[in-house]
Amino acid sequence: MGLPRERTLILSLVVLGMCLCQITSRTPSDAHISQKHDLWMARYGRVYKNNAEKEMRSNIFKKNVEFIESFNSFGDRSYKLAINNFADRTKDELKAYASGHKDPVDLKSHVATSFKYESVSEARDSMDWREKGAVTKSRVKEHVVELMRSCYLIRETVSYLTGSCWAFSAIAAVEGITQLTTGKLLSLSEQQLVDCNRNGSGGCQGGYKENAFDYIVKTGINTGNGYPYHAKDEICNTVNQAVQAATITGYEMVPANNETALLMAVSKQPVSVSIDPTCFEFGYYSSGVLTGHCGTNLTHDVTVVGYGTHDGIKYWLVKNSWGPEWGDNGYVKIQRDADVAEGLCGIAMRASYPTT
Ligand SMILES: *[C@@H]1O[C@H](CO)[C@@H](O)[C@H](O)[C@H]1NC(C)=O
Ligand SMILES: *[C@@H]1O[C@H](CO)[C@@H](O)[C@H](O)[C@H]1NC(C)=O
Ligand SMILES: *[C@@H]1O[C@H](CO)[C@@H](O)[C@H](O)[C@H]1NC(C)=O
Repeated sequence: MGLPRERTLILSLVVLGMCLCQITSRTPSDAHISQKHDLWMARYGRVYKNNAEKEMRSNIFKKNVEFIESFNSFGDRSYKLAINNFADRTKDELKAYASGHKDPVDLKSHVATSFKYESVSEARDSMDWREKGAVTKSRVKEHVVELMRSCYLIRETVSYLTGSCWAFSAIAAVEGITQLTTGKLLSLSEQQLVDCNRNGSGGCQGGYKENAFDYIVKTGINTGNGYPYHAKDEICNTVNQAVQAATITGYEMVPANNETALLMAVSKQPVSVSIDPTCFEFGYYSSGVLTGHCGTNLTHDVTVVGYGTHDGIKYWLVKNSWGPEWGDNGYVKIQRDADVAEGLCGIAMRASYPTT
């Protein structure tokens, strides 16, 4: 038997009041925040130029911590936020980090391709390509810190790490199809793409994942050890570039704005996608299924490496390139079949996968 409507309403108001009070009374004191900030700086190896910068960052940190803690204090959310390595950054800075996706001038030439998974009739209920051995570990922990220090704080430009998201996205998809066709999981070289694939892509300054596939068709790709990752723009090393550890024959686009088609593709191999990650909830996501909609301004490339259902909410399993300190060990679950034509955060707008 349900409660009478009035009692339910009063109860709701009381509960809401309790939550709000909790948030207000829990607002950390300045001393507490400053201590928390010091611990956080030690944990992430963050160093500031001087006291003025530290004070400025500490204020941003405080606001972010307050938002994250109040968000998490609501028990009914399908996901949690965390005070992660971005905790001393503003929303605009987060946006700048997430701007590595750049559309080519002649986008149309890329859009229509055949779609070989058109007639996959029965996709499994869930898939996790990590369990099938087709996904390499997130291996960029140091680069986040390194780049915030060198690329962002000093040059005040787009950080390399997010500027090179297109390379990470394409490489994860190529690592997947390579493992599926050869049985071998190889870690392949993002740095080679950044240095050598200059056709329409600008290394650190952003690029286009389908151009990366085109490059690999023509040149092949070395392993991560053969052409190591240095987290900066370099001149192409032609000796290292000449080693073909893996290759592909082309790529296909998944029909746009169609999550059924995306499901068919992901049930067969990891797929590169572009997303809009520019909401607070994405930046500080830590676990569960992200249901907050960022928008559809595609500025970031990632790789879908599975799908499933968690507590009744369908999700895409997404590998990001912000290091294992970010998100759920470097991954995020984004709601699938949400009531958004383009897919939540635009995930179904620009998906593609390499072919062999
Ligand atoms: C979505 O893609 C599937 C598989 O390719 C196709 O059968 C279906 O007609 C598409 N739906 C729309 C609305 O285009
Ligand atoms: C450069 O990219 C375009 C598509 O954007 C492609 O048609 C062309 O073949 C590429 N050229 C080289 C040299 O890779
Ligand atoms: C989309 O992102 C780009 C790059 O960050 C930015 O210049 C542009 O203003 C954004 N557009 C919207 C509608 O937010």
